[in-house]
Amino acid sequence: MAIFSKKTETAQVDYNHLPRHIAIIMDGNGRWAKKRGLPRTAGHAVGAETFRTIATFCKELGVEYLTVYAFSTENWKRSQDEVGAIMKLLKKYLFEAIDTMEKDKIKMEFFGDLSRLSPELRELCESTREISKRYDGFQANICLNYGGRDEIIKGMQKWQADCAAGLVNPEDLTEASFSQYLFSKDVPDPDLIIRPSGEVRTSNFLLWQSAYSEFYFTDVLWPDFSKEDLLEAIASYQKRSRRFGGV
Ligand code: FPP
Repeated sequence: MAIFSKKTETAQVDYNHLPRHIAIIMDGNGRWAKKRGLPRTAGHAVGAETFRTIATFCKELGVEYLTVYAFSTENWKRSQDEVGAIMKLLKKYLFEAIDTMEKDKIKMEFFGDLSRLSPELRELCESTREISKRYDGFQANICLNYGGRDEIIKGMQKWQADCAAGLVNPEDLTEASFSQYLFSKDVPDPDLIIRPSGEVRTSNFLLWQSAYSEFYFTDVLWPDFSKEDLLEAIASYQKRSRRFGGV
């Protein structure tokens, strides 16, 4: 099977067997802007709107979890201007989300080390988390200052501290018990991971959780990613035979 998507007119989706958890590497914002002679930050602004559209669509479809890679532990290497613009967009989005959460009933969680964020953004994340506790149902997870390797190391450190405090026995460690030390605790592993923009790598995204995820790659740049593109990805996922290492 080709790893890149093959565009059909209308995606054939079985709406009764949707992936429970979709994860997306929102890539291609910079190239989208460059193609139009715009600053990279314009690509991120449109990318943030795409996130809003796709999150709402996932909720309407009945997908239970959507996890997006918004800012990686490596993204700090970008120019101050670009980092600042992404943080500003996140603040704007969270302010608006807090206002509409009651109506939208979208739960939000954050995966990543939030300690490096500005106090204002951290507080917004905490408030959104708190408000989310009132709702059940669709959950959007935003990966912020997130790295898969960092997540595993931080998980190991917390587990070691629990061992040293006598709260857990090292011999009892299992994959399931270790999962509880990750940012994604209580969230099922992603069934489908989508990477737009033509890049074919995981870039340190959900390293532990993606062990048996199905991957879908498309050349479409994230700001152009549409509901139809999401349906194409789901249709492709539904054609796969998931064996989880069995036969
Ligand atoms: C990757 O594209 C994108 C990012 C590092 C930033 C993603 C952030 C947003 C979409 C905005 C805020 C998010 C939310 C959830 C409101 P790139 O810049 O690496 O693109 P390129 O590979 O074409 O340069």
